[in-house]
Amino acid sequence: MASVTSLSHSVEQRLASALSATLPEAAGADPLLRRSDRADFQANGILALAKKAKANPRELATQVVAQVVTGDVIGEIEVSGPGFLNVTVTDKAITENLAARYADTARLGVPHAAHPGTTVVDYAQPNVAKEMHVGHLRSAVIGDAVVQLLEFTGESVVRRHHIGDWGTQFGMLIQYLDEHPHELDHKDADGVSGEEAMSNLDRLYKAARKLFDADEEFKTRARRRVVDLQAGEPQTLAIWQKFVDESKIYFFSVFDKLDMEISDPDIVGESGYNDMLHETCRLLEESGVAVRSDGALCVFFDDIKGPDGNPVPLIVQKSDGGFGYAATDLSAIRDRVFNLKADTLLYVVDARQSLHFKMVFETARRAGWLNDDVTARQLAFGTVLGKDGKPFKTREGETVKLVDLLDEAVERATAVVAEKREKVGLTDEEVVENGRFVGVGAVKYADLSTSAVRDYKFDLDQMVSLNGDTSVYLQYAYARIQSILRKSEDARPVAHPELALAPAERALGLHLDQFAETVLEAAAAYEPHKLAAYLYQLASLLTTFYDQCPVLKAETPELRENRLFLIDLTARTLHRGMALLGIRTPEKL
Ligand code: ARG
Repeated sequence: MASVTSLSHSVEQRLASALSATLPEAAGADPLLRRSDRADFQANGILALAKKAKANPRELATQVVAQVVTGDVIGEIEVSGPGFLNVTVTDKAITENLAARYADTARLGVPHAAHPGTTVVDYAQPNVAKEMHVGHLRSAVIGDAVVQLLEFTGESVVRRHHIGDWGTQFGMLIQYLDEHPHELDHKDADGVSGEEAMSNLDRLYKAARKLFDADEEFKTRARRRVVDLQAGEPQTLAIWQKFVDESKIYFFSVFDKLDMEISDPDIVGESGYNDMLHETCRLLEESGVAVRSDGALCVFFDDIKGPDGNPVPLIVQKSDGGFGYAATDLSAIRDRVFNLKADTLLYVVDARQSLHFKMVFETARRAGWLNDDVTARQLAFGTVLGKDGKPFKTREGETVKLVDLLDEAVERATAVVAEKREKVGLTDEEVVENGRFVGVGAVKYADLSTSAVRDYKFDLDQMVSLNGDTSVYLQYAYARIQSILRKSEDARPVAHPELALAPAERALGLHLDQFAETVLEAAAAYEPHKLAAYLYQLASLLTTFYDQCPVLKAETPELRENRLFLIDLTARTLHRGMALLGIRTPEKL
């Protein structure tokens, strides 16, 4: 299906050509069009152009207006204020544009990006043998939305879940399991639930820790295990694998709760880059990017200093020969750039790791792995705060388990859904399913509706509220349309470009027409919150539309068909937009 040129773009083109006809040196200049309350659009680009050409802006604007082709897309155009152009588009153009979007069921007229490339998105990266917390939630939710947005615009996306599955902490765990070999056995042949898997790991972790702290000999054995692990000793690796497998059972259960598809081959944790670590160090050392300092292999930066004024290096290899987080990330960059052939690397990671990524990216640039065409960027996200504005903790001061949060969100949402079940006519299964979609949607939306870098307050009461900027509000808007469409009997949604539009219809229509631009912008800037804001405004415009324009009781059959068409396109836009954010839109709510 062909993509649809938006009205704003058509208007922009007409203004640009009128501009260059009036003032040849303004060819290619941006008329700076935006939505306006005075008319449909206002262009204020003439002010700067007039200044540059030493012309009177109002006069220039008047000359431009005389050159503008009107009648098809532009209905009226007039000069206002110091030299703005106020533009009103025709009702016919609005309806025709929307009809073209409607006909494109799959993409609603959204074009692909002009120059798609290959992006690796590093997101949803929990740590083996550890509970997932709200930080992992943010990475998963934001990362998933960015992946969906990019793929929708035609980008080739490679997902990478850089799980923490390597490091010295495994020595203690492996040694413990070796000495207590049946601790991870599953009695049930079908395996264990995610919850059981986590509690097994937790129990093991605590027991191993206790022994490690109390028993010097165990400590020594555990340390030796770290060496064996790094040397790839088969029996040690086999035990390590058990921890990874058990953790994956847990991770997948959480991703499933999150209604998120994560596939096993995309999980390439820290251990996945083991074979590259030596080579990475060699390349850095030979090129002089990294130098030996007190036995460690380090990279120094002029602008990164500790509180004592001494430079803080990025340590690629420790003096005992061990590799850390930085070596793995640098190797992952080589893999992503040279094997996966990516031109963009994105890292959806907590802002508290920003210094790490700054140093890693700069190192990779110096090594020539990154450059102007192949770039890396951290999509840093802020901290999740409790209602009190302090970092989110349980009453006992412990980190909140992600699973508990999700369960509570679903529980509350189910209560909200159940209240209306009679009225809406929901079966037991539908109450359960909708409760899940509403609860998980609420959590995702709260995360996605504010800019990622900002800290945000985790407030379940607010998240599942039916009023305000919440996913439930959007889900209700969608379900309400479906209910009207069900009740419309034999009246069908049909566009009637010959009909005059009421102000609320125009406002809704012009906003629907902006969907494509919003999606492309949100994708290009990696800012799902722009799409969330768009959808919220769409639902608000729909509410105003309902207040002013009866649908099923419209005065004429044509008007009814046209309004059914408008709300159906609104529903499709909501559905598509929410799907890009990873949120479901139940048919009945
Ligand atoms: N596992 C890490 C954590 O839980 C996040 C990994 C981020 N990705 C990366 N390539 N370093 O903090």
